[in-house]
Amino acid sequence: EWTMESYVETALRECREKIGDKRVLLALSGGVDSAVAAALLQRAVGDRLTCIFVDHGLLRLNEGDEVERVMKGEFHVDVRRVNAQDLFLSKLAGVTEPERKRKIIGEEFIRVFEAEAKKIGKVDFLAQGTIYPDVVESGLGGESTVVKSHHNVGGLPDCVDFEEIIEPLRRLFKDEVRQLGLTLGLPESLVWRQPFPGPGLAIRIIGEITREKLDILRKADAIFREEMALAGLDRTANQYFAALTNMRSVGIMGDERTYDYAIALRSVQTQDFMTATWSRLPYELLDKVSGRIVGEVPHINRVLYDVTSKPPATVEWE
Ligand code: XMP
Repeated sequence: EWTMESYVETALRECREKIGDKRVLLALSGGVDSAVAAALLQRAVGDRLTCIFVDHGLLRLNEGDEVERVMKGEFHVDVRRVNAQDLFLSKLAGVTEPERKRKIIGEEFIRVFEAEAKKIGKVDFLAQGTIYPDVVESGLGGESTVVKSHHNVGGLPDCVDFEEIIEPLRRLFKDEVRQLGLTLGLPESLVWRQPFPGPGLAIRIIGEITREKLDILRKADAIFREEMALAGLDRTANQYFAALTNMRSVGIMGDERTYDYAIALRSVQTQDFMTATWSRLPYELLDKVSGRIVGEVPHINRVLYDVTSKPPATVEWE
């Protein structure tokens, strides 16, 4: 009988056989896949695994800290976190075009990763959290890559000095990766994380990215996610998030006229993310989220809910 426990044993054996007494390097992204791969590899080869976590400052609220705390504190993974927030923000200053944002982030990510990898010296294996759908999608040429260049922050460099790529999750579907993560002892909060694009919040801020906008978006997004969880819908909707529009509108707060941003909420139902329909969220939930966001997040005075399917819209706003 197939169980996740027996799969873990097989996977550990395979990793150990392949890696032997050599060294492995992995890029942690903040997402589920790379975290599960790290937990598995650390179980397999211990401190011969080194993880580089490039924090580009475009992650969700507390996300970077949580990944670091769990991987370092609980799993004793050798995590090298590079705080590159200022660097990414300065490279992105004034950039509004979505594909330019992706390109800059992808290139800068590799540059920072390589610089950090150089400090570690020679590694034998570069590990990646590639899962089965990634394998299939790239095999087909990936329709979505035509629409947007998908810089998956897991997919990496030629210039780092390594001999071979190792992909311990490449036979697993997403739900199996989650199960594996739980079996390995990763917390639910990490395992049930929303799919999150490599370029992060950069493509959820329409127009120019600033520190202030990132801050606004993080707070609003955290409220939406918290309320989705409280309503018990966090595992039913396939992806949900807030996006900050580049539009301001007039509002009234107390006796004051306001002129502030409108934020959009997006939640979709989908099998494969190639097509999607918008989630029929309860009005009560939308009402509560809206009230909390305008009440708790400065500079937002209007909340919109995106009722567009994919196609013609995409899941992300950029
Ligand atoms: P779209 O917006 O293309 O999104 O309908 C489909 C899925 O892909 C994710 N996505 C990305 N993931 N880099 C990523 O790693 C990207 O540039 C990117 N763009 C979109 C999106 O979050 C959704 O799950």
